[in-house]
Amino acid sequence: MGKVIAIANQKGGVGKTTTAINFASALAILEHKILLIDVDPQGNASTGLRVPTDNGTIYDVLIGDKQMTDIIVSTDDEYLDVAPADIDLVGAEIELIQADNREQILKKALHPIKDNYDFIIMDCQPSLGIITVNALTAADSVIIPLQCEVFALQGLGKLTETIEIIKTGLNPNLSVEGILLSMYDKRLRMSNMIVNEIKNTSDYAVYNTKIHRNIKVAESPISGKSVIHYDVKSTGAQDFINLASEFLTHQN
Ligand SMILES: Nc1ncnc2c1ncn2[C@@H]1O[C@H](COP(=O)(O)OP(=O)(O)OP(=O)(O)O)[C@@H](O)[C@H]1O
Ligand SMILES: [Mg+2]
Repeated sequence: MGKVIAIANQKGGVGKTTTAINFASALAILEHKILLIDVDPQGNASTGLRVPTDNGTIYDVLIGDKQMTDIIVSTDDEYLDVAPADIDLVGAEIELIQADNREQILKKALHPIKDNYDFIIMDCQPSLGIITVNALTAADSVIIPLQCEVFALQGLGKLTETIEIIKTGLNPNLSVEGILLSMYDKRLRMSNMIVNEIKNTSDYAVYNTKIHRNIKVAESPISGKSVIHYDVKSTGAQDFINLASEFLTHQN
């Protein structure tokens, strides 16, 4: 049964999509069968890998009558499939309010395809609305990217609270894999101070692997490729391969 992992933080611009795309790609390169699901109306994970939306999007699964298998697109990497999203998903935030068991729709949709994958990775939007609640209800675990900047920890309390609420009701087995430090710049004393603060104050494990700020990481979505396919020798590519390896050592 595939493990479902949400990449979540309601703070915007902290590296969720960058992590989702490149972590998924790194695991796929290590020959784990991966489904990357875009659960963000911004559709950045979909456009970052140039995934077409002609067969429908996650919106059609949540609100319409499509199945996951209808919308899943294969990529040049035989181990990586993507379920795309686009701006239509904005509407689901309101339309889902009327739905029965509205928090569990994604979980139910994933059930028939879970066995086809080793890991299912979901790129969440920067909010804790009903779509993100669907992702956290469908998830087995969460990875929380945090940017190495002042105020990084601000807002983490709200995410923790949401995870705890979901654990007490909708998804008792939800766990936090760990915090991933993104956009790390070792030249900045501030980055190191923030790393120490996060390690000292967080209830969650922190990955030893840090994602360095790296221009190749920022450029790669323009080519429609993960940083690993864009420039395998870059620091960014190495960081995400290291992250995948560290993650795998914690799986049983
Ligand atoms: N390691 C990195 N090195 C350089 N640039 C990075 C790195 N990680 C992320 N960025 C850049 O920072 C910006 C925000 O990253 P990203 O889109 O992954 O964040 P996000 O959390 O998904 O944002 P949102 O909350 O809007 O969904 C992007 O322009 C991205 O290219
Ligand atoms: Mg994003």
